[in-house]
This record gives sequence, structure tokens and C-alpha cells, in this order.
Amino acid sequence: WEGGVRPRRLLGFDPVPTSTADEFTVPDGYETQVLIPWGTPIRPGGPAWHKDASDSAADQAEQIGMNHDGMHFFPLGNGREGSRRGLLVLNHEYVDQELLFPDGAEEITAEKVEKALAAHGVSVVEIEQRRGGTWHVVNSRRARRVTGTTPVAFSGPVRADHPALASANEPMGTLNNCSSGATPWGTYLTCEENWNNYFGTEEAGWEPTPAQERYGVSASGGGFRWHEADSRFDLAANPGEINRFGWIVEIDPKDPGAKPVKRTALGRFKHEGCTVTESRGRVVAYSGDDQDGDYIYKFVGQGSWRVQRALGRSPLDHGTLYVARFEDDGSGSWLPLEHGTGALTAENGFADQADVLLRTREAADALGATKMDRPEWIAVNPRNGDVYCTLTNGSGWDSAVHPRTPNPYGHIVRWTEEGGNHAATSFAWDIFVLAGDPAHDPQVELDASNIFGSPDGIAFDGDGRLWIQTDVSNSSQNLAEKGYENIGNNQMLAADPRSGEIRRFLTGPRGSEISGVTFTPDQRTMFVNVQHPGESTTVWGTPTPEDPRVVSNWPDFDPEGRPRSATVVIRRTDGGVIGA
Ligand code: FEO
Ligand code: CA
Ligand code: CA
Ligand code: CA
Repeated sequence: WEGGVRPRRLLGFDPVPTSTADEFTVPDGYETQVLIPWGTPIRPGGPAWHKDASDSAADQAEQIGMNHDGMHFFPLGNGREGSRRGLLVLNHEYVDQELLFPDGAEEITAEKVEKALAAHGVSVVEIEQRRGGTWHVVNSRRARRVTGTTPVAFSGPVRADHPALASANEPMGTLNNCSSGATPWGTYLTCEENWNNYFGTEEAGWEPTPAQERYGVSASGGGFRWHEADSRFDLAANPGEINRFGWIVEIDPKDPGAKPVKRTALGRFKHEGCTVTESRGRVVAYSGDDQDGDYIYKFVGQGSWRVQRALGRSPLDHGTLYVARFEDDGSGSWLPLEHGTGALTAENGFADQADVLLRTREAADALGATKMDRPEWIAVNPRNGDVYCTLTNGSGWDSAVHPRTPNPYGHIVRWTEEGGNHAATSFAWDIFVLAGDPAHDPQVELDASNIFGSPDGIAFDGDGRLWIQTDVSNSSQNLAEKGYENIGNNQMLAADPRSGEIRRFLTGPRGSEISGVTFTPDQRTMFVNVQHPGESTTVWGTPTPEDPRVVSNWPDFDPEGRPRSATVVIRRTDGGVIGA
């Protein structure tokens, strides 16, 4: 033990068993409260949600969006007050169009696209804790929705007037906001992930460019079919619009009038998240590109972020973007995506830095970055600076950092930057945990108290507990042929990074994934998101044995209602620190 002192035990709760029930379970001694399900007015007295989904687009723009994902609690006030009142800011990753419209998604109209756009983006709500411990949304001038139509600005090397971004409409909107981040200067970062899914075209003969192909852009799109009703999303009619997506977007939650800003220096890919830390005054932001065979990136800001701010500049506009290379001997390096260096020259087809950033994936290919199994969230241990990244599942790309081929359960990779400096260009890595079920894979060192698969969300709390959330897809969940019959519904676990001990902390309702986690500063309230309960079923109502996998009516259990994504507030009945 460091300094000869045995560290205090980090995990103090009894693990919960796996579950296939349509309920949210927590350990003994904990209590839960459902907060802000999809459709909740962002201000008390706003348009109430209708269980037949008859709310208009204008109503939806004043209500909590769908499919809650990344989230951050910004305290309002200091000390105890800051743990009782704050701004809860959360992403709405995508919409289930079967649930969003009263008549489902067979026909897509302009009106439906408008409502779908309003259900995407980000919500900012002010919440406070009342006597008795429960949390409530309060009226606030800061309450806000950022949607697929909110005016946005661009900054960094790719500006709004770049020819590649030319579009029939003003720059607007953020889409497919998956995980998130928070900056040391108090802003929220929302990350655009599977933005290619919203674009398509019926124009005969349209072909994707190589760059579009590299991002999975196709004429058929990802099933939303918005291009059938709104030419903004038609790849042939409005080709520049799609280049406005794939960015990290900065939102100041305390300034509801400020435009969200797309920070292009951080690159354009399917950003899962954006985890910000500091290194000797410089800002460092880690981000995974969640696709099978894609990469892990980090942005290192130029000079002190405080000085940049004092000069009126964004610390996220000036700096170097790097992509990771993992060597088989446990070492690694960060390769700069800098125009004019290495392979990123005009002779190699990269016109300038803006071009490198617009085609980040191709630039990283040219540098020889290491293909990864779907990099999702990244977390930095506050105790020692180690960095953890979930590789949710994938092909098991041929390299030591992927010990299984294929890799249906995923794992968590960890690295230490050279000299503990997040701005360093080399690191040493190891594997923190291989997920899975030892009944199917003897390499897995987990048991009934902690088997899990497909890790996705991860975050450290202030004490150094690592919280791990899972996203087993509904095409694998609880299925023996996928090796998932013992793992149950998606879940959240807590790990002690020093001992490697892991315990299951909660399980989610049927068909949901657990995504998004944040704490009050005193760590006595935890907020967790339940995304897409009942996904991939149109059978709503009380779960029946006919489809035991995904049928959910959580959290309302109204036979005439429908399942709703929501935030769950978790507290200890004795008011103690969560997880301790
Ligand atoms: Fe939106 Fe990669 O999860
Ligand atoms: Ca995710
Ligand atoms: Ca995922
Ligand atoms: Ca998801």
C-alpha cells in the first residue's frame, strides 16, 4: 500500500443480483425517485405530457426530450447549498419514432420531423432538494431546451462559412447527443455521435464521397427517413448540412441566451463523449469514436486555459488533436493530427487543417492509429490521473489491446500518461477488466456479484470509485445464443481501481440501457439515466411472458401509457455517501 497505509475500503454496499424484471433495483439501504421522464415540462406549469403522445412539436420544445444520455449536475451556490440546488443538464440521444408519435412511424411528415427535432438535443433544468430528501424541478430563467433547430455557432479551424458547410438554412441544431463532458470553467459539452443516421436521399444515382463512406453516410440513412419530408436532411438537395454535424458542442448552462458553439478543433467523428481534465494549466479533452475499428483521440489546449479565457479566447479553439496508437508491448503514443506534418499534407490530399478536421477519420487512418473495439466513455481517476476507456464490444481487432477475437462482451482499457502529464505524447497501458460470463469465457474473472457485458458509461466520483454502466443491445440481452443469458438487464457497477474489486450496484428495467451519471458535490445524491426502456417492442403495457426480453412499461406502469426514458435519483436512506 502507498506509504504503508492500508487504503479505506471504497465499496460499502451489498451487490444486487442480476435481474430480468421490469424494475429498477438498488442495494438495501438505498432509495430511488424517478425525475424528469420524457415529456416533463422543463418549467412547472409548462405543457403537460400526454400518454397518447399527442403533444405537438411546440409542446415538445418546452418538455424534456427523449432517450436521456450523458448528464452533468452544475451546483448553484456553495457548500451545502450547492448539493441541494443546481442545474441538471442532460442529452437526448435519439428518438424512438414508434413511441414519439400517436400513429407510429410508418408515415413521416414535416410535422413529425419537427417534433422529432424538438425531442433531440439537450435539456437544462433547475432542480432543488426539499425536506425529506426528494428532488424537484423549479421555475428558472435558466431552464432551456437546445434542440435540432436551435441556432448554433462554429469556432476553431472549421468556420460556419467554410464552403463544405454551405446549406440552405442557417447553422442550427445538435443531434445524436450521446455522452457529455464538463469544463473547468463551468460549461457543458455535448457530443454528436451517430449523426449520419439522420441524412439520406431518394435522388437516383447519388453516391457517397469516400469521406462520407468513411462515416457510414448512405442514401437510406439510419431509419429516421426525415429526408422524405424535410430537404434539410436530403444529401443530394442540401449536401453541406451533414458537415455541420459530428462535432463537440459547448453550452453555457448559466447563460440561456447564448448560442451553443461547435468546437471544431476537437475533430469530426462519432464523438461518444468528451472528458476534460487539466495538465499544468492546459486543458486536455479525451474522446472516443464509437464505431467498430475506430479510434481514441485527445485534444491538448495551447497554453494556460485561464490565460486563454482572460484573453477572450476559448481554450477549446487552439491546441492539438491527437489519435492513439497502442503497441503490443504495453506502450502507446499520441499521433498529432496537424496539417503539414507526417502524412497530412496537400500532396496526400489534405488541403489544410480544416480539411484534416472535417475528415478526421481519414486523417487518423493516414497516421496509422490503432483500430479499437468501439471506444465509448473515458474517465480520469482523480486519485492518480490514470485514464480508463470502455471498449464496449467489437471484432477484436488484431492487437494486444484486444485480447479476444471477436469481443462480444467488451473490456476496459487503462493507461498512464508519461510522467502523469495528460499533455504527454506517450503512455503505458493495461487492461483493467475483461467483461463477460465465465461460463462462456474462462478468461473472465467475474462472478454472480458482478458479471456484466458491453460496458459503456464510466465515471469516477470524488473518492475514486469507478462507476461502470452497461449497454448490452436488445439483440443480445438475455439471449443464450449470444452468451448473455446469465447477465440480465443492463446494470451499473462500482469498482475499486486499486484492488480491482467490482460490485453490481443497480439493475435497469427491461429493454433499457443505463447511461449518464452525475453527483451532487457532497456525493450524497446520484443521478442516473435510464434510456429506451422497452426498446424494440411496440407492445406497451404490462409485461407478459410472451416477450420477456424487452417489454417494458417503466416507469409509469400505466396500461394505456408507454415506456419513458427518465433520470433516477439515488440516495442512501441514512443520507450517506453513495457507494461507500
Ligand atoms: Fe451513444 Fe456509443 O453510445
Ligand atoms: Ca453510449
Ligand atoms: Ca453503447
Ligand atoms: Ca444508446
